Amino acid sequence: MNNAFNNLILEQRAPGNYCLSINRPKQLNALSQETIRELMQAIAQIENDPDARVLIITGAGDRAFIAGADISEFQGLSALQARALAQAGQSVMHRLEQLDIPVIAAVNGFALGGGCELALACDWIIASQSAKFGQPEVNLGIMPGFGGSQRLMRRVSKAMAMDLCMTGRMIDAQEALRIGLANQVFADDQLMNEANALADMLCTKPPVAIKLIKQVLRDGENMGLDQACALEVELFSLCFTTEDQEEGAAAFIEKRKAVFTGK
Ligand code: COA
Repeated sequence: MNNAFNNLILEQRAPGNYCLSINRPKQLNALSQETIRELMQAIAQIENDPDARVLIITGAGDRAFIAGADISEFQGLSALQARALAQAGQSVMHRLEQLDIPVIAAVNGFALGGGCELALACDWIIASQSAKFGQPEVNLGIMPGFGGSQRLMRRVSKAMAMDLCMTGRMIDAQEALRIGLANQVFADDQLMNEANALADMLCTKPPVAIKLIKQVLRDGENMGLDQACALEVELFSLCFTTEDQEEGAAAFIEKRKAVFTGK
């Protein structure tokens, strides 16, 4: 495992069961430009692992998931440099979203600006009781640039995206749960156990079906209903090319637990 990152820790708890921590706790894990470049490399590493099954993303330390883009790098930034920064940030979020395995954001504190945006590019958001979410860019005279306005609107609602992006207010974990931003909330000291349990459970599922479920929900979101349902037909039929489909049906008939192999 290549752990030669300055700002990230990439580990495998078991083969294919990845955990990536943003590791700048003194800066509340703010995304510096170097961190953004390293995130691209880490994602590429996981993409290149044919046995990758699941990824958890969290923040090092006990205060923050990610407190946003690194504001210390904003001073003196030209509009062209800001454009390049937004494009680099958006590329990371897009590539994360395109990973064909489930990605779990374990939000253990502040998830602000780029931190909220990164969580939104994940498939699951589980939060600690003390987590805080927000898009506070407006308070810096700017706006979300890493896809947050659009993913927040799609995940939650246009009304809530307008509220959070325009007021810049922070919401707590319970409100994030209520509006459908977070899937679940756990006690602070239980968050990583719960994230690991979820990742382990997902690793017992048939990997091809899991990948196809991710694909249909991700790609179908931006299609009309007819086109999205047509995609569902195609992907459903693809499941029947796998041994895991035969195993799943056989295990049900034989009243035993299915053992999926990924074939
Ligand atoms: N970029 C760079 N550094 C950041 C940062 C960011 N987005 N967020 C926090 N930090 C740094 C602080 O500058 C501080 O560094 P210092 O100890 O060298 O002074 C350290 O992290 C701790 O933050 P601090 O502000 O002292 O903690 P706090 O508990 O008082 O407040 C926050 C926590 C998250 C509310 C506050 O740090 C904050 O508002 N951060 C910016 C959030 C933001 O606007 N994100 C969007 C960026 S586009």
